Amino acid sequence: MNITVIGAGYVGLITAAGLAETGHQVVCVDDDLRKVQVLNSGGMPFYEPGLEDLVKRNRQAKRLEFISRIEDAVVKCQAIFICVGTPPLENGEADLSSVELVARRISECARGYHLVIEKSTVPVQTGRRLQKHFSIYGNDSQYHCDVASNPEFLREGSGVEDFFHPDRIVVGVDSDKAAALLGEIYKPVLEQTFACPVHENCGNRARVPFVITDINSAELIKHASNSFLAMKISFINMIADLCEAVGADVGKVAEAVGMDKRIGGSFLRPGVGFGGSCFPKDLQAFVRVGQSAGCDFTLLHEVEQINQRRVDLFVKKIKNELWVVRGKRVGVWGLAFKPRTDDVRCSPALAIIRRMLAEGALVRAYDPQAMEKAKAEIPDIEYCADAYAAAQGAEAILALTEWEEFLHLDLLKVRHLMSRPLILDGRNMFSSATLAGLGFEYVDIGSGAPAREAFFDARNV
Ligand SMILES: NC(=O)c1ccc[n+]([C@@H]2O[C@H](COP(=O)([O-])OP(=O)(O)OC[C@H]3O[C@@H](n4cnc5c(N)ncnc54)[C@H](O)[C@@H]3O)[C@@H](O)[C@H]2O)c1
Repeated sequence: MNITVIGAGYVGLITAAGLAETGHQVVCVDDDLRKVQVLNSGGMPFYEPGLEDLVKRNRQAKRLEFISRIEDAVVKCQAIFICVGTPPLENGEADLSSVELVARRISECARGYHLVIEKSTVPVQTGRRLQKHFSIYGNDSQYHCDVASNPEFLREGSGVEDFFHPDRIVVGVDSDKAAALLGEIYKPVLEQTFACPVHENCGNRARVPFVITDINSAELIKHASNSFLAMKISFINMIADLCEAVGADVGKVAEAVGMDKRIGGSFLRPGVGFGGSCFPKDLQAFVRVGQSAGCDFTLLHEVEQINQRRVDLFVKKIKNELWVVRGKRVGVWGLAFKPRTDDVRCSPALAIIRRMLAEGALVRAYDPQAMEKAKAEIPDIEYCADAYAAAQGAEAILALTEWEEFLHLDLLKVRHLMSRPLILDGRNMFSSATLAGLGFEYVDIGSGAPAREAFFDARNV
């Protein structure tokens, strides 16, 4: 099928390359000329494992091209995916101006029938607004745009794998034709009949659940899913604080709680909080949706508040250890909001660095992929070639993104490089026993060790 994907960001580029790989003819449009140039010269505008090869192969096979003008793509295609950003406005609502602008461009140049699919994360009832828009605007007497919602659940860092092996594909439609077209677009993924570009041998692949629903419900499924995951993270962070206060070990608590099949172990890792371009903004937007519908969304408001306090609590820990921060050298391991991506949007690591700079610390940072993006946000710190260089002369290391490579460092070497062997682990990625054995002072989140010791000390008096 001829498909247009609008937006060549994390979602749009993965969707465009994935659809091309499964046999569709895809034109990906982005109004960022530099991004289009980079893609057309064989480069990548961001890091995502496996994506570069996928883009390259499909460009060479002439199934995927990149352009900057919507009108050059829309006329020829049946399906149009909108994958532009929906960042938060100051009041927390989603800014839908890019979605609206794209809808305007589509209606100006659409001829005949098109299925317009919102893949950007949007508040419930956006599809209805788009339907109204397409019924008002349009230059062609034969013109008809159906609207569908197809929320995206991919995770940055494993976005390519998630495209080919999703847990489910959700579509919100209000016509059989739209449902049939989406079924055709996703047939190879639903039936798992493509040659898998991710795994050498995928083995027996079960059919992917295809959830067909109305447009409002599909839009709501996305916000509800992200809010639930954010709630799990804030929940375990709240428990971590209690563990610290009373002397319990959040690692054990989370492990055993997660063994309950009704709860599940994922997203029960305490830390410096969730970030990225999705959870914080989607949660905020969902709270505003609930409020404007007159529903009590206090629960999710608290999830947001707990997350916002994570950085404060971590900074308090740093100050507690360093006493006076001014003039002290601090090494930072990890800048991205999570591993396997270079995305630093709403990254807690950047928030913590900003706070350290405000306290007068001298920050030396390293991240395997996110340094370029971080430099654009915070130019005035020293970016290092590797984790060892960031540790050189440091009075503390702040471990803020759980990259696999940090687990394979020669920690004895790290200890010798530091002027004080102190690691504050904002992601609980190291073992306190191992680090203590190597002569480090180690502060994690929620192990409750100091409170336990105080309790036993008090008993022994
Ligand atoms: N990043 C994720 O992990 C993820 C996962 C699921 C859903 N989402 C949602 O998908 C949407 C896109 O997210 P993203 O991370 O890919 O954003 P992004 O910022 O990486 O990419 C958006 C792209 O759209 C382009 N764009 C903006 N306005 C345009 C216009 N008028 N015409 C053409 N191109 C335009 C931008 O130049 C940019 O390249 C958001 O609504 C987000 O919430 C993101």
